[in-house]
Amino acid sequence: MFGPVLKGEKVTLRPPVDGDAAKFVEWFADREVTRFLATSFPMSLQQEEDFLKRIGESKTDVWWALEAEGRTIGATGIHRIDWISGNAVTGTVIGDKSCWRKGYGSEAMALRTEFAFRQLNLHKLKSGAFDENEPSKRALQKAGYRQVGVWREDFWRDGKWHDHWEAEVLRSDWEKQHPR
Ligand SMILES: CC(C)(COP(=O)(O)OP(=O)(O)OC[C@H]1O[C@@H](n2cnc3c(N)ncnc32)[C@H](O)[C@@H]1OP(=O)(O)O)[C@@H](O)C(=O)NCCC(=O)NCCS
Repeated sequence: MFGPVLKGEKVTLRPPVDGDAAKFVEWFADREVTRFLATSFPMSLQQEEDFLKRIGESKTDVWWALEAEGRTIGATGIHRIDWISGNAVTGTVIGDKSCWRKGYGSEAMALRTEFAFRQLNLHKLKSGAFDENEPSKRALQKAGYRQVGVWREDFWRDGKWHDHWEAEVLRSDWEKQHPR
């Protein structure tokens, strides 16, 4: 599924538009962008278009493109949704490097978290980041995620092992911080 339009102060979450697939092809070929992503191999335009078709049809994913400064800058999603246990795994990538460190990732994660709990009625969200990916960890923490552990030497990248920081946010904890 694609998620509906969620408008923040700085960033908008919305379904993809024509031309987005080509941007993703470019971003996933950029090692600076994929440095901290679990999947770091580029995709062809056809593969990216197939991915968007698949995810749009999926009943266990909710996916948005991110828009800021009048253009698509990345994507965020709620994946592997278990509708019985009410949990899912989240992820974000801002591929447009000129848009890093402007608060877009933090706002996107906050909007996504609210949507997951208030609209999808989920119980818990899980996520993770390379332990040295401070912006990702910080943005997740601001959205309510808390560390549950660290997988040691979990990813091999650039000639060395990297620990993987694991986090989750329970709806009951999040609700305390966001009273209606
Ligand atoms: C990780 C990512 C989503 C963060 O989004 P962003 O818009 O760049 O981050 P924000 O501007 O919202 O910053 C988040 C926080 O991290 C802090 N931060 C940013 N860069 C930092 C750095 N190098 N060291 C420490 N803190 C940093 C910011 O100050 C902010 O915290 P604050 O609000 O308390 O000041 C984005 O940079 C990205 O997509 N990177 C490439 C792909 C990736 O790593 N995805 C995540 C995979 S888990």
